[in-house]
Amino acid sequence: MAKAKKVSVYFCQSCGYESSKWMGQCPGCREWNSFVEEIVEKKSAGKVKSAPGGNEELKTTKISEIDMQAKERLQTGFQELDRVLGGGIVPGSLVLVGGDPGIGKSTLLLQVCRNLADAKEVLYISGEESLQQIKMRAQRIGQFSDKLQLFCDTSLERIEQVINREKPQVVIIDSIQTMYSEDVGSAPGSVSQVRETTARLLQIAKGMDVTVFIVGHVTKEGVVAGPRVLEHMVDTVLYFEGDRHASYRILRGVKNRFGSTNEIGVFEMQEAGLQEVENPSEFMLNGKPQGASGSVVACSMEGTRPILVEIQALVCHSNFGIPRRTAAGTDLNRVNLLMAVLEKRGGLSLSGSDAYVNIAGGIRMNEPAIDLGIVMALASSFKEKAIDERMICYGEVGLSGEVRAVNMAQQRVSEAKKLGFSSCILPKVSVAGLTDTKGIKIIGVDNIREAIGWIG
Ligand code: TYD
Ligand code: MG
Repeated sequence: MAKAKKVSVYFCQSCGYESSKWMGQCPGCREWNSFVEEIVEKKSAGKVKSAPGGNEELKTTKISEIDMQAKERLQTGFQELDRVLGGGIVPGSLVLVGGDPGIGKSTLLLQVCRNLADAKEVLYISGEESLQQIKMRAQRIGQFSDKLQLFCDTSLERIEQVINREKPQVVIIDSIQTMYSEDVGSAPGSVSQVRETTARLLQIAKGMDVTVFIVGHVTKEGVVAGPRVLEHMVDTVLYFEGDRHASYRILRGVKNRFGSTNEIGVFEMQEAGLQEVENPSEFMLNGKPQGASGSVVACSMEGTRPILVEIQALVCHSNFGIPRRTAAGTDLNRVNLLMAVLEKRGGLSLSGSDAYVNIAGGIRMNEPAIDLGIVMALASSFKEKAIDERMICYGEVGLSGEVRAVNMAQQRVSEAKKLGFSSCILPKVSVAGLTDTKGIKIIGVDNIREAIGWIG
């Protein structure tokens, strides 16, 4: 029998780097002051276990021999979630749903349980709430099937027994930070606990072909606590984000072994739980001011879906030697760069001006295609001339002021058409590739000077 020895180990709370001594800065992720001591039991290597999903007889398999019958994806009842998952739940996958506390992770997963419970065996395990509290939440959400099984516990060993007995098809673990395994000496939520419990859940998921959703809270730095450790173990990582003050929530795929990662799903938090937002562009453009300078609609691709957003800019004379610049919802460095390009190539003297750029609605967008939108909003505010409200623009802006091509030109134009826009400024090189431009005026531009000419 292998003998266990208790040793003290230091873990980086940010990336899980392991060290035998405390360090000020983590060599793994360069985070300062992130090391925490944990007591772990080191077992000397025993018998090697079979890998998750592997087989005991050491038999190899040909691709043609693999049976795909059981591997059909399961629809969650939320199209937005299915899209982010790459077309539905893959049986036997391990999905991490991360997000700030209070953003709506438990609500989303309880709603998924409700949608699935009629047709599938679903087990919702909570280490955070009592059964009564879950019922209170469920009553807000609506009618639940009596087939849904609930279990409140934090011990992984007991949870494993319940899963073995109930043999569910989908399991929700809310949250990984509250779970503990008796084999690990340290406290729940510590790196070694989170790592060990996730590894066990991975074996359960692959071994028994159950889909496991793990809820993980994010710390203030924006990583799931204990956690980048977790990201490489699981199949899919979804982040649930949103402005606390706004009602909509965005589910973003960060990693996906079974689909593309750029997809987003948009939800709105309402009195009775989360509702899907089928047309996010319309939602984002709600409340756009009429005839105001410094406001323009740009188009960004989020995965396979074009989303129209309003970009706002306010340029005003600076009272200080160093002008103030801020960017909300996009990269400040990018805004500074675009202002320099506007000054040098667009002929606007912005160096003595404060500038504030905002993507309306609180959504974050970093696609280069919104460059032209930022440039147009800044120029419009500087000139105090409004841009045609029924015009959208997109394109990447280069350092010589050229407007460069971006992908999916047609999808963006079609989205603008669908929402009733009448003209579109886009890179001239992309115009030839457009296939359907009926009912919308297409304005191809080579550089930002030409684009700015359309203001007013
Ligand atoms: P919750 O799912 O508990 O967040 P998490 O699990 O990510 O910590 O979400 C709680 C928030 O959602 C809370 O502020 C109340 C709000 N909420 C609604 O607005 N409507 C509802 O129907 C529900 C259930 C919650
Ligand atoms: Mg919760």
